[in-house]
Amino acid sequence: MNQFHLTHAEMGKPSVSKRLYLCFILIVSAFSGTEEYYNSQWLQCIYSSPDLSDVVYISSYVFNKAVVSEFNSTLGKFVGYTEYGMRNAEYWNNNTNILQGMKADLDNFCKHNAEIYNSYIRDKTEKPKIKLRSVKQAGGKHPAVLVCSAYDFYPERIKMSWTRDGKEVNADVTSTEEQADGDWYYQIHSHLEYTPRSGEKISCVVDHASSTQPIITDWDPSIPEPERNKIVIGASGLVLGVILAAAGLIYYKKKSAGRTLVPH
Ligand SMILES: *[C@@H]1O[C@H](CO)[C@@H](O)[C@H](O)[C@H]1NC(C)=O
Ligand SMILES: *[C@@H]1O[C@H](CO)[C@@H](O)[C@H](O)[C@H]1NC(C)=O
Repeated sequence: MNQFHLTHAEMGKPSVSKRLYLCFILIVSAFSGTEEYYNSQWLQCIYSSPDLSDVVYISSYVFNKAVVSEFNSTLGKFVGYTEYGMRNAEYWNNNTNILQGMKADLDNFCKHNAEIYNSYIRDKTEKPKIKLRSVKQAGGKHPAVLVCSAYDFYPERIKMSWTRDGKEVNADVTSTEEQADGDWYYQIHSHLEYTPRSGEKISCVVDHASSTQPIITDWDPSIPEPERNKIVIGASGLVLGVILAAAGLIYYKKKSAGRTLVPH
């Protein structure tokens, strides 16, 4: 006894598209004894140019894992790869309505959705947050190491480099790959090993789609940041102490001045 089973799997909704049905893959599995068959349709819109001039629409009919027939918008017609597929292709190519509909889908389905994806995903950029710090290291070639980190940027493509007095440094630089944070954002880190020279300016330079200008962060060698934080906390404590002491002194003075006014 054969059993037939029909499912629709949704592949992501083209929000405004009138041709919603095109976004479904139709999977027909026919169970016959222990064997299963999958009949599916894959719709692909392939493009790389931002102005969408190179969009190709491919609609493939797949039986199990073999493509049986395919519409390719560059060819403007269906092509069959098996006897059955060729028969279908011939039949569809003979029908101008079907062909015209498929060609119209290049605009109505592919370009329409590509524009939506572009505006929501592809054209989005997020500026990296740059952190520049010095780290201690054990037994390197040079006594000092700087680490430049870029966090929370999008898209992934980024260039991080170092300059010393405006000239790019290539030696003794190690960089990590862009690392995905798993939330669409990326981070990258670069180490520069160097021997400090007095009066020089070291900068971390980042080129990223989020900024038309390179993002330049200068190293301030005067006081390392943790030290600076300690000094800020210490100074705040000192100021607070002085204020409290002054207030106490004024209070004491007023009190004792008041006491002398009282006649014995
Ligand atoms: C579509 O057809 C063009 C022209 O023949 C071909 O260059 C391209 O590789 C085809 N695309 C696919 C995905 O088969
Ligand atoms: C193509 O279409 C014509 C007219 O619509 C029909 O007579 C012919 O049989 C069709 N050929 C195929 C291969 O379907």
